[in-house]
Amino acid sequence: MAKIKAISKKRDKVLILNGPNLNLLGTREPEVYDDLTLKDIEGDLKEMAEGMEYDIEFFQSNSEGALIDRLQVARHNCVGVVFNPGAYTHTSVALRDAIASIDIPVVEVHISNVHAREEEFRHKSLLAPVCAGQILGFGAASYTLGLIAIAGVAEFEDE
Ligand code: DQA
Repeated sequence: MAKIKAISKKRDKVLILNGPNLNLLGTREPEVYDDLTLKDIEGDLKEMAEGMEYDIEFFQSNSEGALIDRLQVARHNCVGVVFNPGAYTHTSVALRDAIASIDIPVVEVHISNVHAREEEFRHKSLLAPVCAGQILGFGAASYTLGLIAIAGVAEFEDE
């Protein structure tokens, strides 16, 4: 019997990257970050990505070097990155340089509205100037809006 080879169209891939302490979502300061876990958020993103015909990949690390390594890999196999850098947003020149070094769009997302928070150090992002844009303050929806933003930027770049 002749073998039928499935022809599967390769889909574009988006990386959802999360920095330090975001693995603790669900129990971490729920009054600021709500009580959804990272797994809950990833589940919603997966469903949404399916509808948008994107493959999706998740990675979380508490370490700056691991996040940089993952961004460097993404430049070869992803069309964009939705990135919540956590506290590294406000401190990391190394992550800023990594984002500036890759030529795929990175959308910076935050669950909380960092500009409305009391601590002044949260009002500045070292990464925003080298990101395609920023989405913040919409709770878990910041991530899904980030995915829509990636789709928008990728389409814009295709034209
Ligand atoms: C955060 C905001 C950061 O200031 C903080 O350090 C985090 C979470 C957010 O998603 O609101 O870890 O990135």
